[in-house]
Amino acid sequence: MLLITGASGGLGGLAAQHARGRGDVVLGSRSGDPAGARRVDFDDPASLPDAFAGVDTLLMISAGYGEDDTVTARHEAAIGAAEQAGVRHVVYTSLSGDGDHLPYALAHRWTERRLRRSPLAWTVLRNGLYAELLAVLAAPDSDGRVTAPLGDGRLAAVARADLAEVAFRVAADPSAHAGRVYELVGEVPLGGADLAAAVSATYAPVTLAQARAAVAATGAAPFQVPMLVGTCTAIAHGFLEGPGRPGDLRTLLGREPRPALDVYAHAVGARAAGAVRPGR
Ligand SMILES: NC(=O)c1ccc[n+]([C@@H]2O[C@H](COP(=O)([O-])OP(=O)(O)OC[C@H]3O[C@@H](n4cnc5c(N)ncnc54)[C@H](OP(=O)(O)O)[C@@H]3O)[C@@H](O)[C@H]2O)c1
Repeated sequence: MLLITGASGGLGGLAAQHARGRGDVVLGSRSGDPAGARRVDFDDPASLPDAFAGVDTLLMISAGYGEDDTVTARHEAAIGAAEQAGVRHVVYTSLSGDGDHLPYALAHRWTERRLRRSPLAWTVLRNGLYAELLAVLAAPDSDGRVTAPLGDGRLAAVARADLAEVAFRVAADPSAHAGRVYELVGEVPLGGADLAAAVSATYAPVTLAQARAAVAATGAAPFQVPMLVGTCTAIAHGFLEGPGRPGDLRTLLGREPRPALDVYAHAVGARAAGAVRPGR
């Protein structure tokens, strides 16, 4: 049996859509949504033995959003409970290798190392940054300007739906992917000018200091400020441009990835229309 954690989140929810009609897949979430999901809360390790009972494969959606010690404690709880429950294989959604400069890389690399040291079989899906994330970081303002401090840098962004599809495929046939680390980044890097043109805006980047002050002024939690600004600086300084050629993403999808620029423009439109839940 396959259990997909984080099934009420963006990535886990999309992965769960691929499981519809399959009797050998169960969903898990903190809230119990969608209906019938097992309660899975890495912050509440007592919820995990029941949730993992009878599970052979765990599609473990990373539970980011927090300081490193919070996130690694969640992931330790999940992997430790999987070991105790007799799970055989963990498929973990990590962060692309070119993301090592990002403030949230440490918790992902710690989790990868924890899996390598585990007796469990594992597969690491090193996800690139979502095109949908660009719609948050680099949304046009009310004056029609994209002001994100991306400089001349570009991001090899990926459609979250493509990452979810790959995650489900791999988790549904885990033995074919045991011990593999896949780099799932986009093929066409996008810069601030590309993004602005796609939403009929102009590109007018602010400085990192201005962006930091603006994020802090929104009342963001302390860890979120470096998270957002750190993502911009990694893009601006050219660390996330990707290899510019097809790779693991296309191979595992068996088709061309969704165009990231279209996904960005669609996500900007959805956010403007209020069709996106806060935090997504
Ligand atoms: N590559 C990127 O661009 C990018 C961007 C943002 C985040 N991420 C990372 O990728 C993960 C999935 O992204 P997403 O788009 O699905 O984010 P999302 O829509 O904001 O959902 C957050 C996810 O984290 C899970 N989670 C949080 N706390 C948890 C806990 N205590 N126990 C178990 N699960 C917990 C949630 O599970 P429930 O459904 O149970 O609430 C949900 O699946 C995030 O958690 C984050 O680590 C990647």
